[in-house]
Amino acid sequence: MSFFHRKKTEVDFDHLPKHIGIIMDGNGRWAKRRGLPRSAGHARGAEKFKEITTFCGDIGISYVTVYAFSTENWNRPKAEVDALMRLLDEYLERAYDELRGKDVKVRVIGERHMLSDSLLQKIEALEKHTAHKKELTLNLAVSYGGRQEIVNAAKTLAEKAKNGEINPEDITEDTMSSLMYTAGQPDPDLIIRPSGEKRSSNFMVWQSAYSEYWFSNVMWPAFTKNDLLEAIHEYQKRQRRFGAL
Ligand code: IPE
Ligand code: IPE
Ligand code: MG
Repeated sequence: MSFFHRKKTEVDFDHLPKHIGIIMDGNGRWAKRRGLPRSAGHARGAEKFKEITTFCGDIGISYVTVYAFSTENWNRPKAEVDALMRLLDEYLERAYDELRGKDVKVRVIGERHMLSDSLLQKIEALEKHTAHKKELTLNLAVSYGGRQEIVNAAKTLAEKAKNGEINPEDITEDTMSSLMYTAGQPDPDLIIRPSGEKRSSNFMVWQSAYSEYWFSNVMWPAFTKNDLLEAIHEYQKRQRRFGAL
């Protein structure tokens, strides 16, 4: 029996994590090790993104959030940022065909105003086109920062308090959750970060309070379906206590 099948049978498909977050890291190092430009790593990473998110839908995951570009990634050289934005553009262009017949709702989360008008139009069109889909919700985090997301919520609340629309005493954790991009979605149960780095890098700061992390040294372009199954399998062996006994 192949390794893939062995892992596959070990996973309990009746108790999958509802929401998986993936920090798609390691594209640059993957390319460098092969003597390729970083952009080649990003191109391969984009292919991997499609493969793994499709697989998530196939096995029955309901929510996937992929970290594609952080608010801090704007500080990279312009040529690299441009290459990444081009890949996003290509994905948005092809998504109609590739998602045809699939029950996938796509949402782009992050600081949209930083994106070009042309990207924005394509994002809005794809979101509208898939808004009624149900089986898998795919949050694509672009120009996303977890702290920024919380700052935005604070601004909204301050504005409402100033206008007398809310009483500060009435603000709860649920109020905050409802102001995140992921309002109405469950918090991520499992967050996967390949590439060997063991940090969140500003990913889902509010939502990840009780997420389980799974780290791997594999670079994102080399990540496999089996790695995903291994992460889920390990997640299923953990005991989540949420502070209780
Ligand atoms: C992840 O790969 C993609 C983005 C952050 C946009 P990196 O580009 O961070 O690759 P490494 O970490 O330098 O290898
Ligand atoms: C995190 O990766 C952001 C994405 C994967 C999109 P980075 O490569 O930007 O994170 P750091 O700089 O290693 O923390
Ligand atoms: Mg990186």
